[in-house]
Amino acid sequence: MIKKCLFPVAGYGTRFLPATKAMPKEMLPIVDKPLVQYGVEEAVEAGLTEIGFVTGRGKRAIEDHFDTNYELEHQIQGTGKEKLLGGIRELIERCTFSYTRQISIHGLGHAILTGRTLIGDEAFGVVLADDLCFGEGASVLAQMVKLHRQFRCSIVAIEEVPHTETHNYGIVVGEALSDSLFRVTDMVEKPAPDRAPSNLAIIGRYILTPDVFNILEQTPPGKNGEIQITDALLRQARDGCVIAYKFKGRRFDCGTLEGFVEATNYCYQRFHASDAGQRVVPMSRGAS
Ligand code: G1P
Repeated sequence: MIKKCLFPVAGYGTRFLPATKAMPKEMLPIVDKPLVQYGVEEAVEAGLTEIGFVTGRGKRAIEDHFDTNYELEHQIQGTGKEKLLGGIRELIERCTFSYTRQISIHGLGHAILTGRTLIGDEAFGVVLADDLCFGEGASVLAQMVKLHRQFRCSIVAIEEVPHTETHNYGIVVGEALSDSLFRVTDMVEKPAPDRAPSNLAIIGRYILTPDVFNILEQTPPGKNGEIQITDALLRQARDGCVIAYKFKGRRFDCGTLEGFVEATNYCYQRFHASDAGQRVVPMSRGAS
């Protein structure tokens, strides 16, 4: 059973400057909830309640968020505002939170390897909080945990992206096992569109088997001189099996301004507009 989920959160978030000058990008709110909380909620829905953060300088607000704030809680006790803290209180009760610091930043593979001390020798989830996912039926991570039970190997979530955007993603090619499942045969980190072997892009959800740590230790720097999880996964795929899964649901790239705004509109419409009794202009990409 998978219990642990790793959140690499040491990155700077320069695209959101000046908002992220003194605040972690993972704490940017989508309406009234920080991005990272959506990610933790998704993990918990998948049964992963041991949460590990690979953190860095300037990220203390994340630790404070997943802790009690006695002064504030005392002040709003018994008022109507108390219910606003219900969701985060529940997470704090259900989960444990552990932190380790990434001293220097050398890519996602390096961040995951840094998290080894929090994971040990068991399969685990990885959530990149920038990618905000709303699963259909079950959370995206829950869908992947189910697949891991079946295949017992690493699982990556994928979606089709426009060919012009392959340079922003790890791109996979695989042997189709069904409409939504591929057994990975090749994987390239951020290829230029004319070199991309497909338009199946990895999004920020992974289930990894623990042998990935030894592989990462031996993985030389790849794209942009960084240690890439994509390169380590390719080794796993060639030596054994990695499954790429076209998840059911919707994902917003909140690492870009456009994706962030789109996610904000979506969440407002889905979770808040009816509460406020307001009508908002429907979005072009018809979300449900
Ligand atoms: C990372 C991975 C990339 C993946 C992406 C998903 O890139 O290296 O393979 O497609 O996450 O969000 P990053 O966005 O951190 O540059």
